Amino acid sequence: MIPVSDLSVLSVASECWPLVKTGGLADVVGALPAAVAPHGVAMTRFLPGYPAVLRALPRKRTLFRYDSLLGAPARIIAAKHDERPILVLDAPAYFDRDGGPYADPMGRDWFDNGLRFAAFAKAAADVAAGRAGAKRFDVLHAHDWQSGLAPAYLTYTVDEAVRPVSVMTIHNMAFQGFFAADFFGRLELPRTAWSIEGVEYHGGVGMLKAGVKLADAITTVSPGYAEEIKKPQFGMGLEGLILGRQDRLSGIVNGIDTQAWNPATDQALAAPFTAGTLEARTTNKRAVEAAFGLAEEDGPLFTVITRLTWQKGMDVLIEVIDHLVGLGGRLALLGTGDAAIEAGLHAAAARHPGRVGIRIGYDEALAHLLQGGADAILVPSRFEPCGLTQLYGLAYGCVPVVARTGGLGDTVIDANVAALASGAATGVQFSPVSYEGLSDAISRTIRLFHDPAKWRSIQRAGMAADFSWAQSGSDYAALYRRLKERS
Ligand code: ADP
Ligand code: GLC
Repeated sequence: MIPVSDLSVLSVASECWPLVKTGGLADVVGALPAAVAPHGVAMTRFLPGYPAVLRALPRKRTLFRYDSLLGAPARIIAAKHDERPILVLDAPAYFDRDGGPYADPMGRDWFDNGLRFAAFAKAAADVAAGRAGAKRFDVLHAHDWQSGLAPAYLTYTVDEAVRPVSVMTIHNMAFQGFFAADFFGRLELPRTAWSIEGVEYHGGVGMLKAGVKLADAITTVSPGYAEEIKKPQFGMGLEGLILGRQDRLSGIVNGIDTQAWNPATDQALAAPFTAGTLEARTTNKRAVEAAFGLAEEDGPLFTVITRLTWQKGMDVLIEVIDHLVGLGGRLALLGTGDAAIEAGLHAAAARHPGRVGIRIGYDEALAHLLQGGADAILVPSRFEPCGLTQLYGLAYGCVPVVARTGGLGDTVIDANVAALASGAATGVQFSPVSYEGLSDAISRTIRLFHDPAKWRSIQRAGMAADFSWAQSGSDYAALYRRLKERS
C-alpha cells in the first residue's frame, strides 16, 4: 500500500543507483524515496540527463523547454523509475557525452563542470519553485557541490512567499566545487549574490559553500562527521561557516537498501546464506579465490572495495600488505582510481602470487560476492562521512575493520574486552591511520579469526544490527516537516 503523503520533496543529485553511480552518494539517493515514503513524504529525484540515464527511462514526457539554460537549450523530462516519479534535465550540450558523470574517458575532469552543474542547480530551483512544468515542491533537498547552487538560485530568484525550503546534505567535504571569479558572470544570478553572504568564496565561486550558507538546514551523513567538520582538519576551509551555522546542522547516518543487499536472496552470491547458515559462506570464499587467482585455503581472507584515493587510506594499505601476508592473511581488492595507487597494488600482487589478488575496475556484482565470501573488509579511511562498505560488511558477516573516524566510528562496535564479553562487538576499530594503526588492527583481527566462537559472535552481532533506513528515513522526514512548519 502506498502511504498518503502530505509533503513533497525534490531530491537533487548528480548520481542515483542503479542509473548512474561512482560511489555511495548514488546508493543513498537511490534509497531515500522509499525510506521517507512511510512518513508521508513524496520524494521525486532530479538528475542530469547523462546518456545512461536517458537510455534507462523508457516512457518520457517533456514538461518544460528552455531556449537557453545558462547558454544552451534544455528540457525538463518526467519519467518513472522503480514506480516512482523522476525528473531529468535533458541538456545535450552539458550531459550528452561518453565518459563518467564528472570526467572524460581518460579520467580528466570535464573542462566545463562548473557550468554543467550550475545549469543543473538552476533548473532544480526552477522545478522546485513550480516554474518548469511541475507542481511546486515543499522542499528542495540538495546533495553535494553539484547541486550546491540550488539554494542560491532559490534565494536570489524566487519570491520568499512561494520559495520552497531547502536542505543541503554534505556527503563529502573534500569536493567543494570551487571556480574562478569570472565564472560568476555565467550564472545569471543578481550582483547581490556576489558576496560572502552568497556564493563568493575566497575570491571565486564556491558551490558547496553557497549551499551551506544559504540552505535552511544542513545535514551530513553521520553524527560523527557532523562534529568533525567543525574542525579545520575535516572542515577543509568551511569549518568557520559550519560552526557559525551549527544550530542548522545535523548528522543523519545512512542506511542500506536491505533488498539489494540481502545475503539470503542475493543473486550475485555463489551461495546465499543467513546468520544461521554462515558455513555456506565457504562456497562464496571459493568463488572469490577463483575470481582473484588466490590459493584455496581456509585462512583469513580480507577484502577492500573502494575508490583508490588518499581519503580511503590506500597508500597505507599498500605499506601494510607484506605484514598482512606475513601473518597468513590473503587480500582480494576491487577498486578504481589513482594510477599511482593502482601501480603500488599491482606491485604488491606481483610480490605475493596466490596471496594478493587485485581487480581494477568497477563491478557491482563482484562487490556483492566479495562481501559474501571474504572474512573481513578493511576500511582504513583518513576521513569517512558515513561509508557504506562497512555496513554491507555487517549485513554479510564480513567483519569490518575500520578507522575510528566519521560514520565508521558511529556504525561499528569495536571488539574490545567489554564488547566481546557482552556480545555487542561487530568489528574492529583502530586509529591512527598509519602503518602501526592498520597493521595492529590486522594482527588483532587475525587473532580473533582464529577464535571461532568469538568470530561467529562478532559476525552474528553485525548481521543482527539495524542498518536499515527505518530510523534515518524518519529523521529526514521529521527535518523536512520542521522546516516546512517554520517557513
Ligand atoms: P564513497 O562514496 O566515498 O566512495 P561509500 O563507502 O559510501 O564510499 O560508497 C562506496 C560505494 O561504491 C559502495 O556501494 C561500494 O560497494 C561501491 N564501490 C566502490 N568501489 C567499487 C568498485 N570498484 N566496484 C564496485 N563497487 C564499488
Ligand atoms: C560520500 C562519502 C561516504 C558516504 C557517501 C554517501 O561519497 O565519502 O562516506 O557514505 O558519500 O553518503
